[in-house]
Amino acid sequence: MTTGTARHDRIETIFNPTQIADRVNALAFEIAALQLDGLLVVAILKGSFVFAADLIRALHVAGLAPEVEFMTLSSYRKGLTSSGQVHIVRDMEGDVRDRNVLLVDDILESGRTLAFAKDLLSARGAKSVRTCVLLNKTVKRAVQIGADFKAFDCPNVFVVGYGMDAGHRFRELPFVGRLVQGA
Ligand code: IMP
Ligand code: MG
Repeated sequence: MTTGTARHDRIETIFNPTQIADRVNALAFEIAALQLDGLLVVAILKGSFVFAADLIRALHVAGLAPEVEFMTLSSYRKGLTSSGQVHIVRDMEGDVRDRNVLLVDDILESGRTLAFAKDLLSARGAKSVRTCVLLNKTVKRAVQIGADFKAFDCPNVFVVGYGMDAGHRFRELPFVGRLVQGA
């Protein structure tokens, strides 16, 4: 494993920018192959904003013209672990009725966030709801849900960067890394 920059030397790189770009581009072509009419990308904030920004541009290259919406969800985290209940901090603006939706999130861990969002948009009348995550962590799954599309399986460590934070920090890093405690 390589390390981050000197400024961020407590962070060890897990997925570097080139690896991320390669997977994001490949995912976009997998998604395009479904030939979904009028695709609506719903990015779950805050963690997925960098991934979603890269993904929609890769979708363009793959020949799609998705619309994009944002929904801020919170799962009442205490420190680094999720406590369970998901709630809507800020809802999306548009209507999902009869739309083919692609939900985009940073990490699938317990599954509660993605299951909540999927159920919500289905209940609102979406024609289809598919899920796309940057990282899949399997160890703490509490709800039976898998991602239709995932860039990487991720080790069971707390990760930051590429939009993901620890206490509001590190979202700006162009790679995914793990916090190295006490380093
Ligand atoms: P789930 O509801 O347990 O699947 O949690 C998913 C959400 O928890 C993700 O959207 C992230 O915002 C957050 N999360 C889970 N693991 C990490 C991590 O390692 N770093 C940063 N955020 C995380
Ligand atoms: Mg999140």
